[in-house]
Amino acid sequence: MLPLRNFKRFFFKALRQPFYALLIFFRRSLAVFSYWLSQGYSGPPESLTLFLTHRCNLRCKMCGQWGEGGVTKKEGADALKDELPIELYRKFLDDLSKVDRPSITLFGGEPLLYTGCLELIRYIKSKKMHCLMITNGSLLADAAGAIVESGLDELNISLDGGAELHDQIRGNHGLFQKIMDGIGRVNDHKEMTKRAKPLINLQCTITKYNYQYLEQLLSVAEQAKADSITFHNLIFLDQNSLDKQKKFDAALGLSSKDWQGFVFEPGIDPQVLRQKISFVLSSPRSFKVDFYPNFSGRELKIYYCDPGYQPPRQNSRCLSPWLVAYLFPDGTIRPCLNFGYAFGNLKKDNFFAIWNNVQARQFRIVLRENKIFPACIRCTELYRY
Ligand SMILES: C[S@@+](CC[C@H](N)C(=O)[O-])C[C@H]1O[C@@H](n2cnc3c(N)ncnc32)[C@H](O)[C@@H]1O
Ligand code: SF4
Repeated sequence: MLPLRNFKRFFFKALRQPFYALLIFFRRSLAVFSYWLSQGYSGPPESLTLFLTHRCNLRCKMCGQWGEGGVTKKEGADALKDELPIELYRKFLDDLSKVDRPSITLFGGEPLLYTGCLELIRYIKSKKMHCLMITNGSLLADAAGAIVESGLDELNISLDGGAELHDQIRGNHGLFQKIMDGIGRVNDHKEMTKRAKPLINLQCTITKYNYQYLEQLLSVAEQAKADSITFHNLIFLDQNSLDKQKKFDAALGLSSKDWQGFVFEPGIDPQVLRQKISFVLSSPRSFKVDFYPNFSGRELKIYYCDPGYQPPRQNSRCLSPWLVAYLFPDGTIRPCLNFGYAFGNLKKDNFFAIWNNVQARQFRIVLRENKIFPACIRCTELYRY
C-alpha cells in the first residue's frame, strides 16, 4: 500500500499535515481493498490529471509526445485539434465536488497554452481542491501575477540544467533566462501579496544529456528560491516489451501507440549517475531534494541496462487505475497517460457514471489478473502507490 522507500517521505508529511495523511491512508486502504475484492470497482479517485492540450511550443529531445521520436509530433495537426471548452471543465468539477475533492493536476502538452488555463485554476480553487500545474515555464513571465492570485498550490517547472544545457535539451535558445525571469516574477508577486503559494517545485528529467551535470540544478534551485527539486528517472522502453503488449491491446481493444514515443536507448551510465546522485544529496542546500523513483545503485543498473528489466517485486503490480484518472482533450476519461483506452467520454456522461462502468471494470480486472502490462515496466506510477 505504501512502498517502504516512500515511508520516510510519508511520515514527515504526516507530521506536517496529519489530516491530509489520514485521508491518503484511508483512500489507499480503500483502493487496496477494492483491488483485491471488488471485481474492478473502485472508490473515488485520489487525484485527476487534466490533459489540457496536446499543443506544445517546445520540442524537448526526450519527450514521448514532441521529442525526437515523439508520437504527437509524428501524428501532426490532427492530434492538435481537440481541446475542451471551459464550461465542460466547470461542469465536471461541479459533479466531482458533490462527492469528493480529489487533487487536480494540470498537464499537457503545455498547459499554459490552453486559453482558459488561469480561469480553470481559479475554478478548481473555488471548489477547494488542491491544484498543481506542470509547465515548461516558457509562458510564465506574463502569467506570473495571475498565477499567484489564482490560488494555485504548486507550480512544478521543468528545468533540466543550467542555461546552456537546458536550452540545448529543450531546443530553444534563451528559454532558461525566460523561465528564471518568470519564476522571479512569481516570487516577487508572492512577496508583494504576502502569499506562501504556489510552492515552487523544480522538476528535472534525467537524460543522457544532463545526467553528468545534475549538480547544476542546485544553484538553479537556489537562484529560483525553489521549495524543492525532484529529479525524475527517465521513462523509456524497448521495442520487445512494446511488442509483448500487442496481445493485451487486442484483448482489451486498447492502443499502446503513445508508448512508441518512449522507445529509445537511454544512454545513461548508472555508475556515473549513482555518483552524481550521492554528490547532489550530500550537498548543502536550503530546499528539499528528491530522486524519483529513489533507486539504489543496484536498481539503477538494472533499470537502465538490463534488456529484460522487470520492476522490483514490491512494485510489480499497478494500482494506479484505482486511484487516478486522466481527462484527455477529446473528453475521454482514461486510466493511464499512455494508453488509448477510454472508460467513457465526459461529453456524453458525467464522471461518476464513467468511473466504475463496464469498460473501467474490465480494464481493472484484466490489469489485476496480469499485475502490470508489458509496456508499463518503467512507468513511474508503479512506484507511487
Ligand atoms: C510531458 S511534460 C508536460 C508538461 C510541460 N510541457 C513540461 O514540459 O513541463 C511533463 C514532464 O515530463 C517530463 N518528461 C518528458 N519526457 C520524459 C521522459 N522520457 N521520461 C520522463 N519524464 C519525461 C518533462 O521533462 C516534464 O517535466
Ligand atoms: S515542453 Fe513538455 S510537452 Fe513540450 S516537448 Fe517539452 S516535455 Fe514535451
